Amino acid sequence: MAADLRRGIRIARYDPETHDSPEVHHYQVTVSGDMTLLGVLVDVEENVDPSLSFRYSCRGGICGACGVQANGMPVLACRTRISAIDTNDGQIEIAPLSNHPVIRDLVADLDPMLNRIASIDPWTQPDDGSPGSGMDSDMLQYEVERLGRSETCIACGLCDAAAPAASPSSEFLGPAALVRIYRHAADVRDGSDRQRLELVTGEGGIWDREPAEEWNVACPLEIEPANRIESLRAAAEANQVGKPGRKVSGAGV
Ligand code: FES
Repeated sequence: MAADLRRGIRIARYDPETHDSPEVHHYQVTVSGDMTLLGVLVDVEENVDPSLSFRYSCRGGICGACGVQANGMPVLACRTRISAIDTNDGQIEIAPLSNHPVIRDLVADLDPMLNRIASIDPWTQPDDGSPGSGMDSDMLQYEVERLGRSETCIACGLCDAAAPAASPSSEFLGPAALVRIYRHAADVRDGSDRQRLELVTGEGGIWDREPAEEWNVACPLEIEPANRIESLRAAAEANQVGKPGRKVSGAGV
């Protein structure tokens, strides 16, 4: 078992009521064994500075609440070992998720991203339009695999935080919302894949940014958002969706 270690950790602090911009506070912490970043933040809050704000719930990589930037990389704090954080000088710098507004300290506001996801009708829409129709039918193994794990997305915001994703002011839907569109467009039970492709070929959609490897690296569920968006692009091109003057007949992803 690894010995306890004193480590320096810099944490971005920001209180919108008293600060115009974030400032960095320096803490010395004792890291024992293979402690997680979330464990260190809880330790700082309980034993050093109770005013530190950060967010977590499940501590098991399920709720998606604990995303932060660790030395510039978006990570889930509960799934990140301190020993696994890339560092040159032994220092660790923790900041709120990039590309999301900041509520306070390490708490990013995920509502704009969640609103973008909500805007794309993120539920299965069967062919005949009746709620629940076809939902109890078995899916074949290859039909499940075609979802590319997109159905496991926990909306943690890490892909949106990875450059060059959505800035809070941009029209870009962002990889999280585009993955959600893929999830439904690729679902054999969903009958609205053509409409979904038409939606994502508009402004802020799949042609707005080049799919970035950084999105794949950031995703803790290995959904590979950039690959899913490449699949949407391929389906849109194959079916000429979004290209004016061309007749579209079905648009299966
Ligand atoms: Fe739930 Fe980290 S606390 S994902």
